[in-house]
Amino acid sequence: MSEQSDYRATALSFLKHSLEQLASALDDRSRRQARFLSLATIACDTDEDELPRPTARTVVMRDWTSAPPVWQFHTDRRAAKVSERSLSHQLSAVFWDSSSQLQIRLLGTASECRDAAVVHKVWNDLGARGQQSFWRHEAPGTGLAHPTALTFAKTVEAAARGDESLVSPHFMLVDVAVSAVDCLSLADDPHHRVQGQWRQDGWEARWVAP
Ligand SMILES: Cc1cc2nc3c(=O)[nH]c(=O)nc-3n(C[C@H](O)[C@H](O)[C@H](O)COP(=O)(O)O)c2cc1C
Repeated sequence: MSEQSDYRATALSFLKHSLEQLASALDDRSRRQARFLSLATIACDTDEDELPRPTARTVVMRDWTSAPPVWQFHTDRRAAKVSERSLSHQLSAVFWDSSSQLQIRLLGTASECRDAAVVHKVWNDLGARGQQSFWRHEAPGTGLAHPTALTFAKTVEAAARGDESLVSPHFMLVDVAVSAVDCLSLADDPHHRVQGQWRQDGWEARWVAP
């Protein structure tokens, strides 16, 4: 059996290979687009008598850990996606890597990463320009008279001169613990699709029709 067909031998090896593609996309500059995930949550601004409303947006996957499976993104803690009620539901995210023609859907639960060393590292890696939006007074979604009518607690220059260990209180690093995945490869004919459930210390996988 060739090395290439090897990973297709079982649903489990196919699933693991798919997740390796996801992990490698994080470090591969030529596949940067794959780090942009569509993240869907349940909107929390609905009234009690309204049906739950899904809402989706793009976020950048910053890190991936394979066992247990956890992915990470950062955001402004005032954003709708991380409000208390949104975080109490499961989150669904879609990864699409056009170079490997691979879609992975990730279901999971989110929590704030409170490891100060990790938070500081991610914050410092952003640089003063990347950090600036977290020094903005206006929360995401606040009405504006004009797109430039924004005010900041720190300018980029002040942030660059400032104490690197001072993290904006609005900055939030989110860990999403993955409980299930659905991997679909369009590179195969017929298309291959596998579903997996994370069980304590390993994946359970099965083939399903694409
Ligand atoms: C390419 C791209 C990458 C983005 N990455 C992030 C991100 O990593 N974190 C984030 O909070 N918002 C990110 N955004 C902005 C979100 O898509 C969204 O507009 C914003 O976070 C407000 O979302 P919410 O009101 O649903 O919370 C990104 C947008 C684009 C277009």
